[in-house]
Amino acid sequence: MTVLVLNGPNLGRLGTREPSVYGSTTYADLVRLCAETGEELGLGVEVRQTDHEGEMVGWLHEAADAGSPVVLNAGAWTHYSIAVRDAAAQLSAPLIELHISNVHKREAFRHHSVLSDIATGVLAGFGVDGYRLALRWLADNRG
Ligand code: DQA
Repeated sequence: MTVLVLNGPNLGRLGTREPSVYGSTTYADLVRLCAETGEELGLGVEVRQTDHEGEMVGWLHEAADAGSPVVLNAGAWTHYSIAVRDAAAQLSAPLIELHISNVHKREAFRHHSVLSDIATGVLAGFGVDGYRLALRWLADNRG
């Protein structure tokens, strides 16, 4: 089983992007952290990032066709992209919605997610450790 860890816009700039909100871990560090966690858990993990909505939709179709679980940090798309939601709704394996920051402590426009009601679960506010937690849950609940 390979888990796709899909990251949306601006997440490639982790480490330099608003470090007071998102921390100092870089995107390269995040990829490493997910790979190491996957190895520890005996879980195949592939981490991707895109700033292009159509590419994200294509990756979700790929996960739907392969029956792959997805950890999705859709970034700003979380709050308004019906295209990403419609693609994510086609998944048959678990979908974990993830946010590095606690979106509920932030601006009101971040409080609504178009993904939460179709997600298996939601993680927000645990920093990049949230990715570890998501992968741990998927490993413990693999079919
Ligand atoms: C985010 C929260 C979103 O509101 C924001 O647009 C992001 C990152 C997070 O990981 O905390 O890009 O998803």
